[in-house]
Amino acid sequence: MKVCVLAGDGIGPEIVAEAVRVLEALRSDGLKIEMEPALLGGCAVDAAGVPYPEATQKLAREADAVLLGAVGGPQWDALPRPQRPERGLLGIRKDLQLFANLRPAILYPELANASTLKPEVVSGLDILIVRELTGDIYFGEPRGIEVRDGQRVGWNTMIYSEAEIRRIGKVAFEAARKRNKRVCSVDKMNVLETTQLWRDVMIELSANYPDVELSHMLVDNAAMQLVKAPKQFDVMVTGNMFGDILSDEASMLTGSIGMLPSASLDANNKGLYEPSHGSAPDIAGKGVANPLATILSAAMMLRYSFNNEAAAQRVETAVKKVLAQGYRTGDIWEEGTRRVGTREMGDAVLAAL
Ligand code: NAI
Ligand code: MG
Repeated sequence: MKVCVLAGDGIGPEIVAEAVRVLEALRSDGLKIEMEPALLGGCAVDAAGVPYPEATQKLAREADAVLLGAVGGPQWDALPRPQRPERGLLGIRKDLQLFANLRPAILYPELANASTLKPEVVSGLDILIVRELTGDIYFGEPRGIEVRDGQRVGWNTMIYSEAEIRRIGKVAFEAARKRNKRVCSVDKMNVLETTQLWRDVMIELSANYPDVELSHMLVDNAAMQLVKAPKQFDVMVTGNMFGDILSDEASMLTGSIGMLPSASLDANNKGLYEPSHGSAPDIAGKGVANPLATILSAAMMLRYSFNNEAAAQRVETAVKKVLAQGYRTGDIWEEGTRRVGTREMGDAVLAAL
């Protein structure tokens, strides 16, 4: 398996280095993996003038998976939009046709105090949000702002084809098979035709997955249920806009942004794996960033692109072990635990592996 490694900007190089060390350790145990670095984001703008250079495009297209740190930072904020680091991220997602965004929200028992919710509501939380990433009202045409009858009006188009719904639904059902075999599809079918179709297609698709239980929830209720009783969910699947909001809401249930991985997959399980957080310019270069979200993203890569569940679980178990041993970077530190930097946290994970 070929992996294109994009360290990116800010804390990116520091946290990606630790994930790479974990993958190298697995390689010395027999994992077949080749890693090739390339530039994406602000570092690419500085070196090549564009955020997603051709050399990176070539490597990313040829690779079986992409491991990314984060992109962006204040030094690039004044650039015109096409040269901004975030364009690199949007560019690679579009280029690789990554339509399925997987965002787990897991509350580790050792980090229960980081959540703002009561322990009985969140303890043991382990949910997976599957968000469609390339369709919906964010991309639908027509769209625009124009003057009608003397005032400005703005409009967008919410649109999904049944093929788009089926392929994201498939990802959700397959993911549920590797978990607790429950899918909750979130829509707004009482008001929006697009999501009526969404619900109909999910029901049709569920016939192929008799071992997985399908339920439905309206998005406003889903937003409430996520804070009221989030443990009722296993896999949630929804469209681009609802998923944008619900995945951020779900990630905040855990309170620890430095712990949350993500995956964005194409139709052949090629994927881009990155932490849910950004480039954290405020702590970049200090060696204090939490590398666990990136290490857990590498675990997702092993699960979804390598189809190697055992290796994925081995990494996840090592992460749980270092938390149980009391190792904490600054973002998750609390009284009575052992404060470590990025490299020491990586060392601890390697030792636990
Ligand atoms: P951020 O996620 O980078 O940082 C928010 C806060 O969380 C900061 O206080 C930061 O120090 C902390 N934090 C984040 N990751 C951490 C980690 N691994 N360990 C310890 N603390 C951590 O979000 P912010 O500040 O809004 O954005 C900073 C830059 O990152 C911006 O240029 C933004 O555009 C970019 N960004 C990039 C993303 C990506 O590459 N996917 C996603 C979000 C933001
Ligand atoms: Mg968002």
